[in-house]
Amino acid sequence: MSVFSGKHILLGVTGSIAGYKSADLASKLAQAGAQVDVILTGAGEKFVTPLTFQSVTGRRAYTDQDLWGNEAHVLHVSFGKTADLFVIAPCTADTIAKLAHGLADNLLTVTALAATCPLLIAPAMDGGMFDHPATQENLSKLRERGVIVVGPAEGHLASGLKGTGRMIEPAEILGHIRIALGKKGILAGKKVLVTAGGTQEALDPVRVITNHSSGKQGYALAQAALDSGADVCLITAPTALTPPVGARLVKVNSAQEMLNAVLAEQADALIMAAAAADFRPKTMATDKMKKRDGVPQIELEAAPDILKTVAGSGSGAKRFRVVVGFAAESRDLLENAAEKLQSKQLDFIAANDISAKDAGFAVDTNRVTLLFPDGTKEVLPLTGKEKVAEKIIEHTSRLLE
Ligand code: PMT
Repeated sequence: MSVFSGKHILLGVTGSIAGYKSADLASKLAQAGAQVDVILTGAGEKFVTPLTFQSVTGRRAYTDQDLWGNEAHVLHVSFGKTADLFVIAPCTADTIAKLAHGLADNLLTVTALAATCPLLIAPAMDGGMFDHPATQENLSKLRERGVIVVGPAEGHLASGLKGTGRMIEPAEILGHIRIALGKKGILAGKKVLVTAGGTQEALDPVRVITNHSSGKQGYALAQAALDSGADVCLITAPTALTPPVGARLVKVNSAQEMLNAVLAEQADALIMAAAAADFRPKTMATDKMKKRDGVPQIELEAAPDILKTVAGSGSGAKRFRVVVGFAAESRDLLENAAEKLQSKQLDFIAANDISAKDAGFAVDTNRVTLLFPDGTKEVLPLTGKEKVAEKIIEHTSRLLE
């Protein structure tokens, strides 16, 4: 189940040009399965209309007119009690000051005072206003009270100046919202190490031996672990993907570098989704190999087996309490995966059928069977890589209990 499903999110929108980006945020939240109720301040309404938010959330948006309407006395209290998270994006210097001092002169700030759920704000203002000691003091006060402050970013501002004051992008705010919603999840307090992508083994300064791994399955695992409240370290071979917000990223190229990075970490669980090389060139040419020298004969040697090295460190000295592997197989899927489960001493393995175009490398979907050392198995028919990730995280959490 997604971290958003069944979650009630209040989205406050204050008076900033960044308000137009909040419509995108509201839309993303609603599409992800959250119930989104929007409250606009008077200034917020000047930049973007309630109708915009109603259109993307499918629910009516509230304004200060509702403060004096029939349901006003229940509205802010009920919102304050039922919401899982209150997000104010964009949040102006004025609203930050009101929140810091407990002022309640509009529906948004009245609701913020009544709310018992966590509050996340995404400041947006001109650079000078953000740097002003009053704003900085107000933000410190809010942080001390446990308010989650995300951004602002540096860049081009509405004033035409450059500085720190831009609201961070909706996709990034969404990542912070996921972390806030997942905080008490099934992996709260646990550290999870995930590897992703295809390693690159250099032939010379220009050429590499690699594979088709896009990193999608590994990144989905890192996101699912974050959604479950884990502290996540993502060791990644080169990919074109944007890393999940909140994951600590360690970038590597070769299988040897991935092994070194894994050995430098200690975690409750290791999930090896990376397609690490089995073979690498015995030597790397220091200069670019020249065509005029003819077709080179490249001698290969075994690359270090990361999982075997980790498993080989002995159960007493184990760095990881749970170790999960993958087996990408184009034939004899279950037999080959069962052999890897045993030889790599894993807690379970995801047997990854890569014989069809819709599963395995580079696509968004996957077809996997989870195999356990006691002989039990769970078949996951074709589904999104994020669903495969959620299942693997569920089993990892169960084994960590
Ligand atoms: O990245 P995507 O495009 O989303 O594709 C996902 C995936 C197909 C790469 C992924 O789902 C997957 O199957 N990953 C494992 C690929 C692989 O290398 O499988 P393998 O059967 O060769 O290796 C078995 C296990 O040993 C794997 O967990 C692997 O990470 C690990 N290994 C492999 C080589 C090596 N030198 N050291 C290792 O630890």
